[in-house]
Amino acid sequence: MDYAMGSLPVPNVQSLAAASHAADDVPHRYIRPDLDAQPLAASDATVDIPIIDFSRLRDPKSHLHESSKLHLACQNWGFFQLINHNVPTQVVERMRIDVNRFFQLPLAEKRKVAQAAGDLQGYGQLFVVSEEQKLDWSDLLYLNTLPDTERTMRFWPTQPPSFRAALDNYSSEMKNLAECLMEIMAKNLGLGTDVVTEKFKVGIQSIRFNYYPPCAQAHKVLGLSQHSDSDLITLVLQVNQVQGLQIKRRGEWVPVRPRHGAFIVNLGDIFEIYSNGRYKSIEHRVVVNTETERLSIAAFHSPKSDAVIGPLEEMVGGSGAKYRSVDHESFSKLFFSSKLDGKSFLDSMRYES
Ligand code: OGA
Ligand code: NI
Repeated sequence: MDYAMGSLPVPNVQSLAAASHAADDVPHRYIRPDLDAQPLAASDATVDIPIIDFSRLRDPKSHLHESSKLHLACQNWGFFQLINHNVPTQVVERMRIDVNRFFQLPLAEKRKVAQAAGDLQGYGQLFVVSEEQKLDWSDLLYLNTLPDTERTMRFWPTQPPSFRAALDNYSSEMKNLAECLMEIMAKNLGLGTDVVTEKFKVGIQSIRFNYYPPCAQAHKVLGLSQHSDSDLITLVLQVNQVQGLQIKRRGEWVPVRPRHGAFIVNLGDIFEIYSNGRYKSIEHRVVVNTETERLSIAAFHSPKSDAVIGPLEEMVGGSGAKYRSVDHESFSKLFFSSKLDGKSFLDSMRYES
């Protein structure tokens, strides 16, 4: 499979959902017979992902306490919700409104920025590599956002008219926030300023707008298959407060309850590799419901394209490196050509123990 080919064409799920009202209207390619077998954490959850307060991280009086909370969240969860993050409300609100408007446009209008052969960007669906593959109950708009030179403007919507400017602002806010967080995380790992500058700056950012329609067979489909993110750090905005994201913890699926104004932050495979496994990239998935659509925006951050992806020297203690080192380009090719099936990709980077 040549990764440059991108995705095989599949139906538009939003249109499919609008047309299928009865349970047996849902095509079998979306139905996953084994879903019920997977244990769900008790829903009255005393388990809830940690909450980190960014304003307390920045305040010298509370920094120490909050950054040790952050360290524990990274070690024990790989996921947390970030509150009081300082991203201007109008930037987030503008993006929220414009992404809603985009997905409400007629299909023909959205298709003006449709994915094309040879590119993963644009409006369409995720990574379909075989005719047998189970399909996700979602549509998406995926765009390279940084560096500027990687932007392919023909995939950037011109409707609604403020979309491009909204995304430009949102993209730079996400980059800044990602870098602030990574700097503190790197210090928590005992790494020096030189390593932060060399390894934890955002080289590449891409942004995925996810649209999950309701489904008449909600309990039999997935909005997004189980996966871990391949990047350094991901910031997710739950656009409309509809629950759906679940993370895998101790063999159970733990639902993430949306909090207004929070970002969900998670570490990706590159962070796990950099830290030689001290911080983990956690598997997650999205479920859908019968009544309500769900929207989210995921901002993915990776190092520069010429970076070496491997355990940092300082993180390799007596027990040695747990992952191999490869250049970024081989890393991306490996990732994009493997279908989204849990952690098998990261396993291929792991040395046998
Ligand atoms: C993703 C992702 C979660 C969500 O896009 O990689 O995990 O809530 N999204 O949509
Ligand atoms: Ni993800």
